[in-house]
Amino acid sequence: MQHQAHHGHFITFEGLDGCGKSTHLERLAGFLRSRGLDVLTTREPGGTDVGEKIRSILLNSRTRGLAPLAELALMFASRAQQISEVVLPAINRGTWVLCDRYTDSSEAYQGAGRQLGVEAVLTLHRVLCLNLQPDLTILLDNDLAAILARARRRNLNSEGEADENRFEQENRAFFERVQKQFLAIAHREPQRVALIDARRPLEVVQQDVVATVRGRLLGER
Ligand code: TYD
Repeated sequence: MQHQAHHGHFITFEGLDGCGKSTHLERLAGFLRSRGLDVLTTREPGGTDVGEKIRSILLNSRTRGLAPLAELALMFASRAQQISEVVLPAINRGTWVLCDRYTDSSEAYQGAGRQLGVEAVLTLHRVLCLNLQPDLTILLDNDLAAILARARRRNLNSEGEADENRFEQENRAFFERVQKQFLAIAHREPQRVALIDARRPLEVVQQDVVATVRGRLLGER
């Protein structure tokens, strides 16, 4: 079942933790709003009241003993809620939805990182997400060193901050599998996924993101 008969656009941002996704998402939102477009930004897991509760279970490092398949199910529970409550209503009224992570993250983190397999993830996507595909996915490619350094910093300073570093306690081999799967997705679906090198200065990456959206979705060069 495809639900692509909408007027707005659905753009997702993907990449390893610490690659600058959230900053680039907000800057793209600013660019689109300056064009007079109606833009809504959201994130996964989360984005709804129910989803934010699920997020705290998934990301808090005090969550113990969560089975990998339960983790996968919760990611999709949050996503199904967000699609029904936020994404479909917004794109159907012509809004541009910019979402920080989507099913590619489940494929990379749970499918490859947790080694649950890509097929399980894609099957859940077809059923629970009505196979809703983004019009464009910005995949920010960065080195593993960036996430490992950030994880070390956050694990040292987590007192007082919102504790969202359960994934950042994973090891290098886990993130290598995640990164490899993100790249495999980009190769498999080049028409949907734009691979952008995030090792360059922020302003340069931002220009690349805006140029990609102008070229692919706004019909500009
Ligand atoms: P996010 O809030 O984007 O964190 P960051 O700013 O560190 O990139 O994502 C939270 C974490 O959730 C991140 O470590 C990746 C993980 N995640 C999954 O494992 N599977 C998923 O399907 C999603 C959406 C996120």
